[in-house]
Amino acid sequence: MLGSGVRKAYVRSFGCQLNVSDGEKIKGLLKKMGYTFTSDENEADLIMLNTCAVRESAEDRVFGIVGSMKKLKELRPSLIIGIAGCMTAQSHIAGKIKRSYPQVDIVLGTSAISALPALLLNKLRGAAFSADITEYDDFSATAEQVRESSFKASVPIMFGCNNFCTYCIVPYVRGRERSRAPMDIISEVKGLVQAGYKEIMLLGQNVNSYGKDLETPMSFPQLLRELNSIEGYFIIRFMSSHPKDASRELIDTIFECEKVAKHLHLPVQSGSSDVLRRMNRNYTAEKYLETIDYIYSRDPDFSLTTDLIVGFPDESDEDFQATLDIIKRVRYDNIYSFIYSKRSGTKAAVMPDPVSDEVKGQRMRTLLETQREISSEHYKRFIGRTLRVLVDDKAKKKPGYLTGKSNEFIIVEFEGDPSLIGQFVDVEITDAMNWAVSGRLVSSP
Ligand code: SAM
Ligand code: SF4
Ligand code: F3S
Repeated sequence: MLGSGVRKAYVRSFGCQLNVSDGEKIKGLLKKMGYTFTSDENEADLIMLNTCAVRESAEDRVFGIVGSMKKLKELRPSLIIGIAGCMTAQSHIAGKIKRSYPQVDIVLGTSAISALPALLLNKLRGAAFSADITEYDDFSATAEQVRESSFKASVPIMFGCNNFCTYCIVPYVRGRERSRAPMDIISEVKGLVQAGYKEIMLLGQNVNSYGKDLETPMSFPQLLRELNSIEGYFIIRFMSSHPKDASRELIDTIFECEKVAKHLHLPVQSGSSDVLRRMNRNYTAEKYLETIDYIYSRDPDFSLTTDLIVGFPDESDEDFQATLDIIKRVRYDNIYSFIYSKRSGTKAAVMPDPVSDEVKGQRMRTLLETQREISSEHYKRFIGRTLRVLVDDKAKKKPGYLTGKSNEFIIVEFEGDPSLIGQFVDVEITDAMNWAVSGRLVSSP
């Protein structure tokens, strides 16, 4: 506990949902120390930036924000600024922070979240700079969280990654795969359901390899079945699934378990088997499509989303065409696409890359345009159907309208009362856009 006066903390997380979940744990620790929270950095006594290192643009953004905080610090020298998250795990970045950003007081490593109270006390007692990037714990497995939402909860089931895709920094900043004990996950989910949470999002960099490192191994489909048997009305989502491990058993389990969402996020990254080999993804485009064909053999309308990288080193026109071909063949509801970003220390960082930024930019625009056409056509399959929707919020640009996500992970807009936020409702779909569908409320709780 801190001494006199209420102290306010501003905690901002960047990057993936696992990082957001860590941010909620940072808040959990700060709450125990007596902090309250603010969304206005100007009134904060403590600013914690929980960073992402997956692309250069993510790092630049944080450096920009930290740079702009110099002014805040000059105005209020008692302000404490801390940097946590994946950026801190790269020694050249940690060095740069220390050298060039004297306004930063605390650096907290990804496996050292539990050290935050000690670092803060150190700082409050007058230390100039405190850092801890030790790999301590599985603290993040058990810590209390201050959750952002009262009806949607993320539950990390594993940490780290063993896959070493050649472009990716995550294995370097998050370490090797560590699975949480099934009993811990099950009791956390039970507690969340009892507390009224309606959506449980299971998180891991590759949930399909969950449990392989446990003393008594348990597969991810087994875990899904255990969670599905928990009493209560709620929906189970998960991400991400690595295609190399997306087994028929996993797909069968999705169809068998009524609480598991009928949606799969299956990041393909590229449609070219040659690029996939150089990415060290351990599957070919053909193998990926076999998985998709199996899913569609069970339900031709099944909802799929994916991640794609454009402009991987030496990606040829033919490689890029193969990516366009695969998105047309699979018909994803949505794609998350990124221009390749060189990450120092990864294998791809030293691969020759003769493709210009202009070409990469043009490919990205073509990809997005192609996907827009696919989505606007593909979303029409929902017209006339009634979708069960968990209501998220008021629609941003449409007064009187609400927005939510259907079981299939489709954004649904409809007219309704804000009291429905956080509830499941049924919406009959009447219209399809290229990013969402809309309809009319047919039943609510
Ligand atoms: N573990 C997940 C998987 O393999 O599907 C992905 C996690 S990663 C945080 C999210 C996405 O970021 C990846 O699927 C990939 O598309 C993208 N990504 C990762 N490294 C990248 C890089 N160096 N440049 C551009 N995009 C990258
Ligand atoms: Fe990165 Fe590949 Fe691991 Fe995903 S599976 S986190 S892309 S190394
Ligand atoms: Fe970024 Fe770290 Fe997640 S690098 S995407 S915050 S694991």
